[in-house]
Amino acid sequence: MADDTPALPALKLDTTVSHSARIWNYWLGGKDNYAVDREAGDRVAAMLPSIVAQARADRAFLARAIRYLAGEEGIRQFLDIGTGLPTADNTHQVAQRVAPRSRIVYADNDPMVLTHARALLTSSPEGACDYVEGDLREPGKILAEAARTLDFTRPVALMLLGILHHIPDTEQAYSIVRHLVGALAPGSFLAINHSTSAVHGAAMEEAVAHWNRVGTPSMTLRSPQQIARFFDGLDLLEPGVVSCSRWRPALSPVGGQPAEVDEFCGVARKP
Ligand SMILES: C[S@@+](CC[C@H](N)C(=O)[O-])C[C@H]1O[C@@H](n2cnc3c(N)ncnc32)[C@H](O)[C@@H]1O
Repeated sequence: MADDTPALPALKLDTTVSHSARIWNYWLGGKDNYAVDREAGDRVAAMLPSIVAQARADRAFLARAIRYLAGEEGIRQFLDIGTGLPTADNTHQVAQRVAPRSRIVYADNDPMVLTHARALLTSSPEGACDYVEGDLREPGKILAEAARTLDFTRPVALMLLGILHHIPDTEQAYSIVRHLVGALAPGSFLAINHSTSAVHGAAMEEAVAHWNRVGTPSMTLRSPQQIARFFDGLDLLEPGVVSCSRWRPALSPVGGQPAEVDEFCGVARKP
């Protein structure tokens, strides 16, 4: 499929402007962030204390989804777009714990993310990790570079976790996902995690409005119904599109379901 979006200027590292990957890293307890990120992160967390639990629930979903895809579905290839800064249990670590031969391509448009990824996200000897400096708005370029490492004639799990809400135009976001999924073989999977305000309502919307005044890239919240549309044409797995804390959680005998967070997710198979 042709990728007709205009070429985008490469992003340069700017430590004076807070950035989503570094704030996310701060909320996850990481060290790869600057004062400007911690300040922005603290301000958002003061408005919306649940945001830290949300970031952690997002990563816990990533681990459960990959364990399922590698363990139960036999997926051995992963394309993780919007990698984020390395933290505990990154995609290749979870996948290669299940299957050491797993091959992973990480793609991100933040130069700091990619510098860290190249240094820290290193593969098991049996498998492979590759890194693509690419923008989600140029899906054709990401696919072409990912093909160095992934065999697109065989199933791939496409991971779009915490990234689609950085595409402001909803129709463009759907079109990007259609483009990427169109390149995958039958039996491939799509996993999405996306911010919403379905749980905390105005508090989440105010925190995101503040974020959009001080941070980059901007965030666009979508409803669970809008998030579900990303899976059109695919077979959505149980339990459907839900808060990521409730996607196949490890339930304790007491306490019931975990609290919902404003990050909704789903996993679907390409028929
Ligand atoms: C909130 S982090 C999510 C990290 C990780 N996927 C997770 O769920 O924990 C968002 C990531 O998407 C990247 N990102 C944002 N917009 C992007 C775009 N248009 N193209 C590529 N990467 C992008 C950011 O640099 C950042 O690393």
